[in-house]
Amino acid sequence: MIFRTARSEARTVETGAGGGGAGGSVPRHVAIIMDGNGRWAKARGLPRAAGHRQGAEAARKVLRAAGEAGVECLTLYAFSSENWRRPAEEIGDLMGLLRLYIANELDSLHKEGVRIKIIGDYKAFQPDIVKLLEASVAKTAGNTRMTLAVALNYGGRSELVRAARGLAERAAAGELAPEAIDEAALDSALDTADLPPLDLLIRTSGEYRLSNFLLWQSAYAELLFVDTLWPDFDGDALRAAIADYSGRERRFGGR
Ligand code: IPE
Ligand code: IPE
Ligand code: MG
Repeated sequence: MIFRTARSEARTVETGAGGGGAGGSVPRHVAIIMDGNGRWAKARGLPRAAGHRQGAEAARKVLRAAGEAGVECLTLYAFSSENWRRPAEEIGDLMGLLRLYIANELDSLHKEGVRIKIIGDYKAFQPDIVKLLEASVAKTAGNTRMTLAVALNYGGRSELVRAARGLAERAAAGELAPEAIDEAALDSALDTADLPPLDLLIRTSGEYRLSNFLLWQSAYAELLFVDTLWPDFDGDALRAAIADYSGRERRFGGR
């Protein structure tokens, strides 16, 4: 008991660089399932594309607030491996928005010291988008203030399959002994390998599911479901989410 008190006090002090505990600390890694753009637009009699545009605006505000709060990594679910099921027109709108976001934001993100990372099988996108994404990652690779990880054509199951396949290939080539495949080895074969452990996973729009997001990484993340539709989510909403997280006690199976 005394030990735990001492530990949570220590975590309160090391704000922003905590060892994954709550107890007053800022989460090192926050991930968001940005859901509800379509409903936001529908409620205003607008096309879904208008909801996505407003959603991109929310992402901009939330990224800034996350940086100011001392979050080391923000991971945003922008396009799932299942979102290909949407009508071609909507997929086209989302791709157009992605191009626009990169064109408008890349320089300021770079100036603010944000490292961009892509998780997911993004190479399935159109070649010009793949090029833009890779150029953004390369340009910002040396930045250290915070990381923005964007999940594009991302699915947790597909990520695990790709990781397993990569390990199997190395084992088949004799580079890796099968008994060396442990949790750490699988973890480092995932797209998120160089990101801090996931502390807080937020989903907006009142839906209570993961929709194939960060399945492995969320094993011990704190989950927060809010009713706010993503385009209405902002810096205050993020700060409220962080405050909620800070008030929680994480146990990781201990007592
Ligand atoms: C989230 O908003 C954005 C993406 C999935 C790309 P939705 O488009 O899913 O909005 P709703 O859920 O239909 O309201
Ligand atoms: C999850 O939202 C994917 C993203 C936010 C990119 P969806 O709207 O696609 O999820 P479901 O279909 O409601 O589960
Ligand atoms: Mg949705």
